[in-house]
Amino acid sequence: MTINEIMNENNKFLNGKPRVYFSPGRVNLIGEHIDYLGGNVFPTGINLGTYAFVTSRDDHEFHFLSHNFKEFGKKVVSLDFLDFDENRDWANYPSGVLQSMIKKGLDVDKGLNILIYGTLPNGAGLSSSASLEVLMGTLLKNEYNFDISTIDIVKLSQKVENNYIGVNCGIMDQFAVGMCKKDYAIYLDTNSLEYQLVPLILGDYTLIIANTNKKRALADSKYNQRRSECDIGLKVLKNNNIDINMLCDMDPKTYESAKYLLTDNTIKRRVEHAVYENDRTKKAVTALEAGNLELLGKLMNLSHISLKNLYKVSCLELDTLVDSFLKHGAIGSRMTGAGFGGCTISLVKTNIVKEVIKNVGKEYIKKIGHTADFYLCKTSDGARKLSEEEIK
Ligand code: GLA
Repeated sequence: MTINEIMNENNKFLNGKPRVYFSPGRVNLIGEHIDYLGGNVFPTGINLGTYAFVTSRDDHEFHFLSHNFKEFGKKVVSLDFLDFDENRDWANYPSGVLQSMIKKGLDVDKGLNILIYGTLPNGAGLSSSASLEVLMGTLLKNEYNFDISTIDIVKLSQKVENNYIGVNCGIMDQFAVGMCKKDYAIYLDTNSLEYQLVPLILGDYTLIIANTNKKRALADSKYNQRRSECDIGLKVLKNNNIDINMLCDMDPKTYESAKYLLTDNTIKRRVEHAVYENDRTKKAVTALEAGNLELLGKLMNLSHISLKNLYKVSCLELDTLVDSFLKHGAIGSRMTGAGFGGCTISLVKTNIVKEVIKNVGKEYIKKIGHTADFYLCKTSDGARKLSEEEIK
C-alpha cells in the first residue's frame, strides 16, 4: 500500500494531516551473537521497516493503532500510567520508550495519535521491535523538540528492550536501525560503540534475504541461555588470570592457548564461536573493502557452520535454506539474527538471482512443507521524519 492509501484508510483515527516517520529494519551480514560479548558486528539497515503517522491530541493520552494488527484495536495509554501492561500488547514497545524519554527530561504537555504501519515480515528476525522503538524515540524527539542525540535514542531503546520488555539483547539492532545509511553497512565495535560506515559495493552480486516463515518459539529463553553460557566461560577464563573483560577481547591465538581451561565442552564451543566469529567479521570487512566478494562469501559460510555446530542457534529450516542456496549457486549463505527460525542472507551472482530463488523456493517447500519468502536486500537511511517529497 502507498503512504497516502494508509493515511486515507485511517483518517478517522488520525483526525487531520499527519507527520510521517520511517524507521528501517536491519539485516546482519556477519558477526552473529557477539554484540553482547564486546564483538564486532556488520549490519545494514534495509528498506523494509516501520512507519508512524502522527497527529496531536488535546489531552494527556497517547492513542496507538496498528494498521497491520487492526484486530488488537486502539491502545490508549495515559501519561499517568506508563509501566509495562500486558493488555497493551505491541504498544508496550512505544510506551516503554515514552516512559524512558520522560525520565530523561522529555516534557510532554499533550498526547499524540500514532498510527503504525510495518512492512517488515513479522517475527522474521529483521528487528521489527528495534525498528519500532527507535521510531518512537525519533518521533518524540521531533514532536516535542527534545534535545537528544540518535546514539542516546539507540542506547535508550536497547535498555527498554532489556528492562521493560525483558529481552536481554545486545545493541546491534537498535544501533543499525538508528545509525544506518543508504548504500552502506555499519562496522560496529559493540564494546566501544566506535563505528565505521563501509560502502556496500557488491559488484556483480546481490544479497538475498530469505524468510523461513518459522515461528521463533522459545527463541528468547534460548537467547538468554546462550548469554549465561558465555558469562560462565568468561568467568572461568578470568578466574584463571586470562586478562580480558569480555570474551571478544580474546583473539584466536589467545583462545587457542587458553581453551584447555574450559573443561565443559558446551561452554568451550560457545566461546570458540565468539572468538572466531569476531575474527571473521574483521576479515569480512577487509574483504568487502578490497572487493573480494568470494572471500566475503566464504566467511559467511563459516559463520553459519559455527552458529549451527558450536553456538547451536540454527534449525532445520535455516539449514535447509542455506544448503539449498549454496547448491544452486550462492557463494555465501548464513542464518542472520538471533536464529531458531527467522531469516538467512545469501550472496548470489545478480544474473542468476531469479533462477536461484525459484529453485531454492521449490526445494524448501518440498522439504519443509511451507513456503519461504525472498527479498532482495535494499539498504536504507536510519530512522527519520519523512519530507513532503518522500510522502508523495
Ligand atoms: C538479536 C539481538 C541482537 C543480536 C542478534 C544476534 O537480533 O537483538 O542484539 O544479539 O540477535 O546476533
